[in-house]
This record gives sequence, structure tokens and C-alpha cells, in this order.
Amino acid sequence: MTLKATVVADRDFVVAPLDRRVFGTFVEHLGRCVYGGIYEPGHPTADEHGFRGDVLALTKELGPTIVRYPGGNFLSGYDWEDGVGPKDQRPVRLDLAWASTETNQFGTNEFITWCRKADIEPMFAVNLGTRGPAEARDFIEYCNHPGGTKFSDLRKAHGHEEPHDIKFWCLGNEMDGPWQTCAKTAKEYGAVARETAKIMRWISPDLVLAACGSSQRAMPTYAKWEYEVLDECFEQVDMISLHAYFRNDDDDIAEFFGEVDNLEFYIKEITAVADAVAAKRRSKKRIMLSFDEWNVWYRTHHPQFIKKPGWPQAPELLEEIYNFEDALVVGGALIVMMNNADRVKAACFAQLVNVIGPIFTETGGPAWRQTIFHPIAAASRFGHGEVLRLKVDTTTFDTKAHGAVPHLLATGIHNPETGEVAIFALNRSTTDDMDLSVDLRGLTGLKVAEASELHDADRKKINSKDDPDAVSPKPNDSAGVEGSLFTARLKPQSWNVFSLKR
Ligand code: AHR
Repeated sequence: MTLKATVVADRDFVVAPLDRRVFGTFVEHLGRCVYGGIYEPGHPTADEHGFRGDVLALTKELGPTIVRYPGGNFLSGYDWEDGVGPKDQRPVRLDLAWASTETNQFGTNEFITWCRKADIEPMFAVNLGTRGPAEARDFIEYCNHPGGTKFSDLRKAHGHEEPHDIKFWCLGNEMDGPWQTCAKTAKEYGAVARETAKIMRWISPDLVLAACGSSQRAMPTYAKWEYEVLDECFEQVDMISLHAYFRNDDDDIAEFFGEVDNLEFYIKEITAVADAVAAKRRSKKRIMLSFDEWNVWYRTHHPQFIKKPGWPQAPELLEEIYNFEDALVVGGALIVMMNNADRVKAACFAQLVNVIGPIFTETGGPAWRQTIFHPIAAASRFGHGEVLRLKVDTTTFDTKAHGAVPHLLATGIHNPETGEVAIFALNRSTTDDMDLSVDLRGLTGLKVAEASELHDADRKKINSKDDPDAVSPKPNDSAGVEGSLFTARLKPQSWNVFSLKR
């Protein structure tokens, strides 16, 4: 059977300009993300800084716009001073979050140098677990103050004459989680976030500051946490963070696909809570959403993959091997985030390499693209412009946890500067093709410039060292435009990208 889906997209009905920061990623001192991931001195492709050239090249192809660092749970026990200055004088420390030994051979300045080489904006986080406002003050002075003071001169002495000028900062990480080093109540955390934000802005007025939301939607304090935190720090912060990890524990594709729709609820719920805090103050200010951790993660979400005995250095942790169905869910989540461009202003795909990452490496060996690499790369490549408010007419399928879920998930983006249009479309039927038609109102003279599909009959197919391109995009030759009507055929269980140009 062939399903039908019809969409209306009008160039004048715009959700919001898409903030390119939604194509962010995350690098944590965790497992082999830093050591053996982006940094591996002695690797055949390593440069003079010890950065792996193969990982850097794949990162550029992936196209993240911003990268969060240094954690994650690692952050809440981290002393930034350990990771700067001459490498032979840096202390070796226990990392309690991941039961690992941290050598501190990679730290703030190495990370900034890597970001500049990769052409990615850095997003930093301050430790509000074991530490607080005083250390955040010192760290901002080190990173962003031009010179003539203790910490800015220390940065210069460390070989960085110019300030790093880091704009985007997270105020702690998952402070509601009992697993977090020095977790806090919402009121405690909200007050610390407020005072920390205040003094950080006194040093760098133009910062973008994100407070910690709940570490997941399933937390018992969910929503109440966000309300109480924002009630403390509403005036001082710009964003509230959200974390989402999709799971397929029961190996049920319908439920797994339906998980993506939870994102829509999550976004709407946190928007409502943030706006309730604004309403209490009769404030026109709107707090924006930063999905600063999201991905599929469940196979290695178990104790043996999270901590290993003996305090190893850069152990193999959270090394999730992704299959084709994971790529579909990741592609679906990207669509939902883009469709909420009016409130979701940043998102970090967690993480970049080896640790629940789209890039995988062998220490001393090659690097390759996991299945989930492909939707992320395509979204970043084609996601430029204004997100259009689509009217979608599609069939649905039933799920136990999510009710009736639409087969088609789609977004349309119009770039007013170039006239280009990008359409991303996920067909969630596992059995049926779908005839998609999009009425592009007010958008004439377009032709299909590129059309690709990520499809496989085998949802469990993976990419590996020996078969790195087993799951990869192929051309979709069915797409065409006549007048302002775009049509294409979408294969069952497929994620599709169409780039239309004049
Ligand atoms: O991304 C892996 C971990 O997941 C992060 O360190 C933490 O913030 C979250 O629980």
C-alpha cells in the first residue's frame, strides 16, 4: 500500500528564524571522547597539538555549530585550573563522575584551539557542584578578560594573548540528579545560578547563560524544578536546559518512533513553565530552551558501561553502537527541534565521538561515521533560514505509550536570502511507501537541487570499521517540482532531505 501525506507551506507563515546553534554537539571528559577521540598525540593523523586529523575532518563534515565542554557529570567535580598551564605540571586527579583517572593533558586552552581549528563556537560550563560563584568569576576572568589582572595575565602567560571571548555558558550540569557531585534542591541551585550569573555578567555583559533544567522529563521533580529554579534566577539567565535520551529497551519500533513525539510535549511543557514564571512577574522576557544533551542512549546506560573498576584512564565507556533505526529517531528529533525554532535556540547532540557519538574511532586506528552521523550532517548542511509553519495531513499508527502517532514527520525551511528551500521528511511507516506532496505557497521557480534518502530494509544494520558505509544516504530520484507543487515518494522507514533551488 502507498500512504498519502499532503503538506501546505507558505513562505509568509514562519515559526521563527532557525538558530544555527541547534546543530551543536558535546565533548565531555568521559571515556574516549577527549582522549582517543578528538585528542590522541602519536596517532598517525595527529597534528602538532595532538588533535586527530581524521576526527577533525569528520567533525567538519558533520557540521556542528557549537560544542559544549567539559561536561556533563564530569563538570561537577572539575577544577578548571588543573587543565591549564604547562602540561608537565598539571595534576593527575580522580574523576568521581566516571570513576576514571584524569591526566589533565587536555584542558581549556587545548579545547579552544581545537574549536578554532574545527571552526565551531565553544559553549563552556561552570562547575556549580563542588564549586560556586568565586571559581566561576575566576574562570570567566581567565577566559574573557583582555588582561592586566591575575587570571587574564595567567592566560597570557599560558600563551593565549587574546581573550577566548566565550559567549555561551551553562551554569552547572544536571543539578537535580542524585548522581551529580553535590546535587542541590531547586531553590539552592536557583540561588547559586542567580548569583553566579550576576557576577559572570559583570565581567562579560554579553554572555548567553543557561540554567539547568531537569536532567530528564521522567525526573520526579520535573516541571516543579524548572519553575522553582527560574523563579530564583529568571532575570539573570537567558535559557533553561533540557536533556533527552531516547530508548528502545523493549525492541518495539512503534514505541521507539513515538518517543520522538514526547519531545514536542517536553518543549511545550517547559515553555509553559518558563512563561508561567514570566507571568508571575508580568514580564515580557521569554526564556529560551537549550537542549544541551540529546541522543539515543540505552544499550550502554547500565552500570558496567558507566564505571569500570581500577580507576582506568580513558576507558571504553558509553560506547553505543548505533543502528539504522537509531538514525531515523535522531532524524525525527532534529525535525521536532527545528519545528520549535521559536523557543529552541540551542541543542547539543551528545556526544561527538566514541561516547554515544556519531563518530567512532579505534585508538591508534581509523575513524568512521556511525549511522546517526548522516541525519545530523544533513540537517546542519541544509538547515538555513526560516522554519515554515507546516499544515500536515498524514495517516497515523497506534502506540501503547504515545497514542496515535503521525506517519509523516516533516519540516520546511525557507532561506529568504538565497530563495532556497529545504524539506526534511521522515516516513515512520515500517511497511509502506508514502507519496508526499508539498504545496509551496509563494515559493515559485524552484527545482530539486539535491534529494537523498536514508533507508534500509534492515533496521538493525550498523556501520563498522570493516563496513563503514553500510548505512549511508542514497539519492532519492522520485522528487520533482511543478509550479509550486513539490512531490516525492518516501520509502518505508526512511529519512529524506530535499534541497530546492531557483
Ligand atoms: O552524556 C552523558 C551524561 O549524561 C552526561 O555526563 C550527563 O550530564 C548526562 O546524565
